[in-house]
Amino acid sequence: MYKVFVTRQLPNPIIERIQQVADVTMWEEEELPVPQDRLEKELEQADGVLCLLTETIDEKLLQRTERLKIISNMAVGYNNIDVTAASKKGIMVTNTPGVLTETTADLTFALLMATARRIVESSSYLKSGKWQTWSPFQLTGQDVFGSTLGIIGMGRIGEAVARRAAGFGMNIIYYNRNRNLEAENQLGVIYRDLETLLRQSDFVCILTPYSPETKNLIDREQFTWMKKTAVLINTSRGGVVNEDALYDALVRQQIWAAGLDVFEQEPVPLEHPLLSLSQVVALPHIGSASIQTRMRMAELAAENLIDGLQGKRPKYLVNGF
Ligand code: DGY
Repeated sequence: MYKVFVTRQLPNPIIERIQQVADVTMWEEEELPVPQDRLEKELEQADGVLCLLTETIDEKLLQRTERLKIISNMAVGYNNIDVTAASKKGIMVTNTPGVLTETTADLTFALLMATARRIVESSSYLKSGKWQTWSPFQLTGQDVFGSTLGIIGMGRIGEAVARRAAGFGMNIIYYNRNRNLEAENQLGVIYRDLETLLRQSDFVCILTPYSPETKNLIDREQFTWMKKTAVLINTSRGGVVNEDALYDALVRQQIWAAGLDVFEQEPVPLEHPLLSLSQVVALPHIGSASIQTRMRMAELAAENLIDGLQGKRPKYLVNGF
C-alpha cells in the first residue's frame, strides 16, 4: 500500500476513494493548516500528498522526502509549491483547473458589482441606522453597463469573466503574456498592452497566475496610469498587486475603489490598512467556494493523486516529464 498524507479534512467519499489504493493520514484540524514541521515529518516517508494552497511545499521540505512521487494541489494556482525543485527530484505536481472556472468567474463578477455599486457599504449604512431619507447622490457608485473592462490574464477564468461582461454590454479589452486569438475571435475581446489597458479601463480584473514575473505587476507606476474612477478587482493572488501602493492610490484618490478576494498574507491581518477603507470590499479568498465546485476540486485532486501513485500520467500535470 502507498502512504498518503491529506493536509485537511475532506469528505468521506473522497478519502474512501484514496483509501482503495493507499493508507491515508489526514491532518486532524478542520479549520487550521498543518504546521510546517508536521508537514515535513509526514512527507518524509509519504508516496503522495493531497494539499491545499495553504501549504508551502518548498525545496527544503522536498529535500527531506524519500519516496514522494506526487504532490496533488487542490487548487488551480500552485505558487505554494516549488515546482522546479519537485521536477529535479522527479516528483509530479498537479492542479485542478477547469472545474472552478465558472464559479470563480461568478465571484469575480459579484465582487465587481458589489464594489462598483457599494453594496456592502450600503447594507451597513442601512443596518447601522444611518438611512434617514432618499437623496440624489447618496451612496452613488459607478455604472457597470457600457463601461470598459480590462482583464489581466486571459485564461479560462478571464474568458468566463468576459462572457459575463458581454451580457452587461461592457467593452472588453485584455492583457496577457501571449495574445489569445481564440478569445479575440469568439468573444470579441481586444488586446492592449498593460499601460494602454490601465489607461482605458473603468474596471480592471486581475486573473493572472502569480509567479516571479507577475509579482507586483500592479505597482505605484501602474496606479498613475489608471482612471480616477477606476475599480480594481483581484481574485488571483495578492502578490500580483503591491498592497502598499494600492492603499496609497485609494487614499490619494488615484483610483476609486478595490474589490479584493486575495491578499499577500492570508488570512489578512485585521489591522491591515486596506481593511480600514470603506471603498475596499474584502473577501476571505472564496473565489471557488461553492459546495459543488469544492467537491469537484477535491475529486479531481484525488484522481490526480491516485493516477500519480499508480504511475499513470495524471490529467492535470503541471511539470510535464
Ligand atoms: C485556486 O484554485 O487557485 C483558487 O485560488 C482557490 O480555488
